[in-house]
Amino acid sequence: MRTLHGIALLVLFCSAHGATSKRQNVTDERVNVASNDGKKGAFIKFPLEVGKRIEADTDGNKIISTLSVTVMLSVLYLAAAGDTAKQIENALNLPPNAEKVIDVLTTLRNAVERPNRDFNLENYPLKTETKVILKESLAPPPENEIAKTFAEFVAEHLFAKIEVTPQFDDTVRSKVNQWASEFTKGTIKNLILPGELNENQAALLVNAVLLQAKWLHPFDPSRSKKYDFFVVKDKQNQTFKRIQVDGMSAENLPCRYVWLEKLKSHALELRLSDSLSRVLILLPGDLSANLDDLENAVDAKLFTDIHSKLMERQDVDVQIPVVNIETKASMRMLLEKMGIRKVFERDSAELPGLTGKLLDHSIHVSDFKHQANLKWNETGVLASGGSVGDIAFTWNLSPVINVDRPFLLYVNSFASSNSRQPNLILFTGRISLPVVSYEE
Ligand SMILES: *[C@@H]1O[C@H](CO)[C@@H](O)[C@H](O)[C@H]1NC(C)=O
Ligand SMILES: *[C@@H]1O[C@H](CO)[C@@H](O)[C@H](O)[C@H]1NC(C)=O
Ligand SMILES: *[C@@H]1O[C@H](CO)[C@@H](O)[C@H](O)[C@H]1NC(C)=O
Repeated sequence: MRTLHGIALLVLFCSAHGATSKRQNVTDERVNVASNDGKKGAFIKFPLEVGKRIEADTDGNKIISTLSVTVMLSVLYLAAAGDTAKQIENALNLPPNAEKVIDVLTTLRNAVERPNRDFNLENYPLKTETKVILKESLAPPPENEIAKTFAEFVAEHLFAKIEVTPQFDDTVRSKVNQWASEFTKGTIKNLILPGELNENQAALLVNAVLLQAKWLHPFDPSRSKKYDFFVVKDKQNQTFKRIQVDGMSAENLPCRYVWLEKLKSHALELRLSDSLSRVLILLPGDLSANLDDLENAVDAKLFTDIHSKLMERQDVDVQIPVVNIETKASMRMLLEKMGIRKVFERDSAELPGLTGKLLDHSIHVSDFKHQANLKWNETGVLASGGSVGDIAFTWNLSPVINVDRPFLLYVNSFASSNSRQPNLILFTGRISLPVVSYEE
């Protein structure tokens, strides 16, 4: 028997348990994420791996909202079946068990929905929203069980809204771009570029993430000054040049810190005001250390180790630069290298959550793009991410062919009305001027 994964387990879970409650018991899930293997896989291992694989820009910068990418893939996972789902499940390291997957998704939801100490959701610093926009001609009828289950499930766990559009035109593009820009306080602009949506578009998957928070211990602007920052001039022979950057500093900053002897690096954790979001900085102790080597060394185990070694200190003096960077990346090849291939394949991707039909290959993901921003200053952090998944019809539903130039033709004869191969060519021709200009 053919196995269905995402969709199958979703249907199984929903029929066995009915709808899950809207709000979960609020335990400190976010800080305990690393203690559970399934959650560690989806939210620690996978993001580390994706982060490593994104190439830095020419300045050597990169920033990626791994939350945005994880949510996008989770939506695709829940829409998928068969090997399409299995490959996403493997890459995300999801546990192969329906209830555990639900558990993983609940962790994700709690991380984003968690009220802050004042239980004021409005001020909670982390937000994400996803839109699944389906072309009207593709959208399953409202009573379709598969589509209904999928829609309810992604709405509840992944903040995803399903919308329908008669066509993917520039109005859709500007509406989505405006939504992403407003959601991210104007930091994610032009998520979808002109010309990106075409007549072959079956659906569009978009996600935006925003983290906006003040530092728990803000930096005093009166201490801010420019300072020397060493930028790599030549990676091969490790030469550097000094440049002046805007810096902020603090003395006796309460934070968690540890010197990692094995990695010859400092690990410093700066808290944001909600205390659940924190910034971990890994800084090589030696200027000539290769940052690639350090990045490659950080796997899920080491990441957990570092966090268990971090110690509360009240006496750390720090000087860090003001940061403002941006990354735009195409994710398709990267995800394919991580084993997520089927969802991109024409004729074999299976996404029944979107079509409402099992064993249907009429759509596939044709592109997956991501952009992210990170800014911080004395006051706080503003980080945002946006992702776009283009979902195309595998067959162009209504190709427009305008025979308006010279062409070749063949008139053939077939053995029967359902033969696919002609057995005789009756005429061959080439038409350059379709109407004979008569000569008397
Ligand atoms: C939430 O979970 C904790 C620990 O498991 C338990 O003590 C508490 O009663 C629960 N609260 C609610 C509202 O269910
Ligand atoms: C470092 O590499 C650059 C270009 O690759 C070269 O011009 C320069 O001479 C090298 N410096 C040393 C000290 O080897
Ligand atoms: C930091 O940036 C935020 C947002 O742009 C701004 O409101 C705030 O005043 C800035 N803080 C300082 C100290 O410049």
